Amino acid sequence: MVAGAFTARRTEAMRGRVQKITHDLIDAFAARGSAELVGELAYPLPAIVMCETFGIPLADQGHFRQWTSNAVLADDGQPVYAPPPDEYLRDLVAGKRAAPTDDLLSELVAAEQAGQLSETELLSMLFLLIIAGHENTVGLIANGVLALTANPEQLALLRERPDMIEGVVEEVLRYDGPMELAAWRFAAEPVTIGETTIPAGEPVVIALAAAHRDPDRFADPDRFDITRPDAGAHLGFGYGLHHCLGAALGRMEAAVALSAVVQRLPDLAPAVPIDQLERGPGSIVRSLYELPVTFTVADSPGGAG
Ligand code: HEM
Repeated sequence: MVAGAFTARRTEAMRGRVQKITHDLIDAFAARGSAELVGELAYPLPAIVMCETFGIPLADQGHFRQWTSNAVLADDGQPVYAPPPDEYLRDLVAGKRAAPTDDLLSELVAAEQAGQLSETELLSMLFLLIIAGHENTVGLIANGVLALTANPEQLALLRERPDMIEGVVEEVLRYDGPMELAAWRFAAEPVTIGETTIPAGEPVVIALAAAHRDPDRFADPDRFDITRPDAGAHLGFGYGLHHCLGAALGRMEAAVALSAVVQRLPDLAPAVPIDQLERGPGSIVRSLYELPVTFTVADSPGGAG
């Protein structure tokens, strides 16, 4: 039911709107010559897209970040888990029941009313999508800007060849993808990998980030190379039954955001040494708290494209 809302076709129909949101966000800092790209672009873009998709008031987007950080980050190995207040989600659902609008949440509420899913399933799905739908996208955009600015020759190549953007997004997913670990799997039967046998029923945590730097799979894996022919063979959206439901949307948002940043912000460079940038402490999502950058102010304001 939910997957239908995120198909490649439905996602493509959102591209124009995603471009408009992106350029409006960039317009707000383009004349300044500096920006904090997580807070001013990578975070608000997917948060606004999620709000609009679900029909959640834009004023509530600020909450998402806290909920998500609480749910996915672990501090010193201690997981902290604080889902959004139940009453907030319940109120949201009650509002859609009373006055349905043209959005995904209203569709889910209609399905609930038709007996296709329970209220608990509806609230859980909403919570999952709010979190899964934006935190990874924040990471993909921020890690992408960082990889490009840390490799100026790759940035210059993309500036000359904007048509390469889709391959760039795949290489960012491989080189510094935002999900370091896949969802847990459980061995259905004993499995032997190398010299280790995993007994039936045992959990398996797969380190996607390690697979992406496997020299047996990717040549010179520690090099960020936007011309890499097999970058798309990464597992950045997982694999099999649980393959990311929002992969098309995540890819499209990142492509739009990275293209706009590269085309509109000449001489883009991190404003602080890269090794001073802070990452969250958790081992699930790999993202940046902040990404301060500088750039040359373009003569004519952008806004197109
Ligand atoms: C842009 C970057 C994104 C990345 C890198 C990403 C990555 C992932 C990964 C690695 C998984 C686990 C798959 C597995 O273990 O096999 C996953 C699952 C999931 N993702 Fe994403 N995701 C992104 C964006 C999104 C968006 C935009 C949405 C929602 C619209 C979304 C919704 C989900 C959901 C619902 C699942 C669980 C699927 C299931 O268990 O059946 N993701 N994602």
